[in-house]
Amino acid sequence: MYPLMHNNITDEDIDCLISFLRTKPKLTQGDKVKEFEESWSEWLGVKYSVFVNSGSSANLISIAALKEKGLQGEIIVPPLTWVSDIASVIQNGFTPKFADIDLKNLSMDPKKIMEAVTVDTRAVFLTHVQGFNGLSQELLDFLEEREIILIEDVCESHGATFQSKKLGSFGLISNFSFYYAHHMSTIEGGMVCTDDEETYQMLRMLRSHGLVRESTDDSIKESYLKESNELNSQFIFAFPSYNVRNTELGAVLGLNQLKRLDDNNKARTENLLYFLDNLDKNIYKVDFDLEGSSNYAFNVILNEPDFILRNKVENILTNAEIEFRRGSAGGGNQLRQPYLKSFIPEGYWNNFPNTEHIHHFAWYVGNYNGLSKSKIKDICDTLNSV
Ligand SMILES: Cc1ncc(COP(=O)(O)O)c(C=O)c1O
Repeated sequence: MYPLMHNNITDEDIDCLISFLRTKPKLTQGDKVKEFEESWSEWLGVKYSVFVNSGSSANLISIAALKEKGLQGEIIVPPLTWVSDIASVIQNGFTPKFADIDLKNLSMDPKKIMEAVTVDTRAVFLTHVQGFNGLSQELLDFLEEREIILIEDVCESHGATFQSKKLGSFGLISNFSFYYAHHMSTIEGGMVCTDDEETYQMLRMLRSHGLVRESTDDSIKESYLKESNELNSQFIFAFPSYNVRNTELGAVLGLNQLKRLDDNNKARTENLLYFLDNLDKNIYKVDFDLEGSSNYAFNVILNEPDFILRNKVENILTNAEIEFRRGSAGGGNQLRQPYLKSFIPEGYWNNFPNTEHIHHFAWYVGNYNGLSKSKIKDICDTLNSV
């Protein structure tokens, strides 16, 4: 068996949770959440982090924050991403605009982003796909010049860098997921990060029903109280929001997992290099842009669009009990999904040929710390035997 992830919650994690529980602590969001947020901010190199219950919730409140800042209009998103990146845009009343990906890093091609920009573009919600860096200086300069906000989805790329700086520290807001198979896990969980104080205060409130008391800024609390002085200061709701908090248990796990994140990432990168060395480049793509990458999973991408070969690959993987997902992490081209039917015309997905290639002719298989070289060789031998 070659699973997508193995042994992500260790005995040491479990011991940590048990010791913590024995202190009979408060389990809902409290001091451990604060400690995890501070440690995460330090690791990432940002001022503020807000721990939430999933990467999707991180997406949701990030875009909700843009809406509550009074923004309206278009947000550019990739067709190769997770559903919640696009759903959060729609749910907050923005119009999603799409830009095709670049096959060398599976993120949106900067040229396609620039072509998609209109006078109504308010933000680019960029996904760093599968551990690859999706930023370029050209893109950062272009967005800055036009005052277009960058939001980074780093849910699949913890620890990856651009120009030696961690991804997630470039945009106004960035998002991480700690779901089970990601670089580190709190079972379910996510983080929203920013350097901007005003955005941070908003995100804190948005995480907890829109409650003003969640703000750590007294002047915000005072100004709401002044406006609504007949209300109980404990129950003033600034925004029509959600409850996407995590728990102290998630934070205890996160703090412990964070200690080994960098070492795990190193091991996963070594695995990736060994995998690429052993994969048959006549059949599969191996020329990725690896600079600054922090691998999430092995990408298996056919060089040529060939449905017969695709079916053969799936058969040999299934027979060898190698777990895989077709279409990369989000299941391929989001534009083909039912939830977008009322937003785009039939066949619109054909305008995104690189994403279409991944949709039909690409998979990922598991890469994690502890995966032995001999197992990686087995996976490559199986793939090469097609
Ligand atoms: C790019 C991306 N964004 C968001 C998410 C959502 O994260 P979660 O599963 O924690 O809700 C995922 C999930 O894997 C993802 O890959």
